[in-house]
Amino acid sequence: MKDFWQKQIEEKWKLCFLAPMDWYWDSAYRQTMKKVAPHIMCVTEFYSADWLVHSKLLADQVLPHNEIEEPLIVQIFWKDPENFAKAAKIIERYNIAWIDVNMWCPAKKVVKSWHWSGLIINEEVAYRIVDELNKATKLPISVKTRLGFEWDDNLIRFAKWLENAWASLLTVHGRTTKQAYSWFANLDPIYELKKHINIPLICNWDIQNYEDGMRKVRNLDWFMIWRASFWNPWCFMENSPYYPTLWEILEIMFFHATKLVETKWERKWSLEIRKHLVCYLKNFPWVKNYRKRLVTVESLKEVEDVINIIKNDFREFLWVITSEIIVI
Ligand SMILES: Cc1cc2nc3c(=O)[nH]c(=O)nc-3n(C[C@H](O)[C@H](O)[C@H](O)COP(=O)(O)O)c2cc1C
Repeated sequence: MKDFWQKQIEEKWKLCFLAPMDWYWDSAYRQTMKKVAPHIMCVTEFYSADWLVHSKLLADQVLPHNEIEEPLIVQIFWKDPENFAKAAKIIERYNIAWIDVNMWCPAKKVVKSWHWSGLIINEEVAYRIVDELNKATKLPISVKTRLGFEWDDNLIRFAKWLENAWASLLTVHGRTTKQAYSWFANLDPIYELKKHINIPLICNWDIQNYEDGMRKVRNLDWFMIWRASFWNPWCFMENSPYYPTLWEILEIMFFHATKLVETKWERKWSLEIRKHLVCYLKNFPWVKNYRKRLVTVESLKEVEDVINIIKNDFREFLWVITSEIIVI
């Protein structure tokens, strides 16, 4: 694992990340993304280090994964360094590539209690978290953070604290905590930061597809895609923008459904797949004609049936690239 970064830097094109996303991403979603784009690396949604330590049930539920998801990065959050260290010992058992610490989330109530991006203005605790993690595990430790809390004037100093604690990699999102999701992202402080630190730096801001990422990455190392990857694994294709055919989309929908069946209990998976099915087809104006069936599926057979109906209704357009179908 020690030469992991060196190898990846030599094969730079490979490192494009699927951003972590609580509520939407899970093992089935990651497997679906990796089926289309095997070269991406996935970060899990965040898990509380405290919960992992106190609930074996949670650990057994969220940490096992399919080989296709590897190398898999697990993201954790909490505030006291001791529990991070204990959680690392548990994570180690599940063939995880490295641990990412969430110092990114801007939610007001947790930030006030020094969780998440509240750590940006509590450098010493941030340092201790990374330090304790490094002492507890041989897995590399990375941090996902923001430009700063209120302003971006402390970014270099904060990153140095993390680097000094032996963080192996940083991901920086081009907004401050106060900005949360608003305002345009500012990338200049991230380009500047790269000149001051010696560890790989990933950027995260409104990247549309692989080609867009390669253009924006400049002096940074790699990039992370979030919104563009919503039900669109093709955004990771090297020859992007890539417009899949309707056939490809329908096939991926079914694959996603089968993976959900494999990883979740029945009632839960059928409730979850409904929103995904509609979202895969969200760019087609005709999706409304199938919405009722899509949002009431209760079995894999029903998923297959509705997909077959769409295939039959659009049999002449199955192999036409989607940008043309959208216009039809
Ligand atoms: C509903 C939701 C859940 C998210 N969950 C996580 C998460 O678990 N961990 C994390 O680091 N970021 C999470 N993010 C942030 C994204 O990974 C990403 O960094 C951010 O939204 C990038 O924004 P942009 O590319 O639109 O600028 C979440 C965002 C949203 C909207």
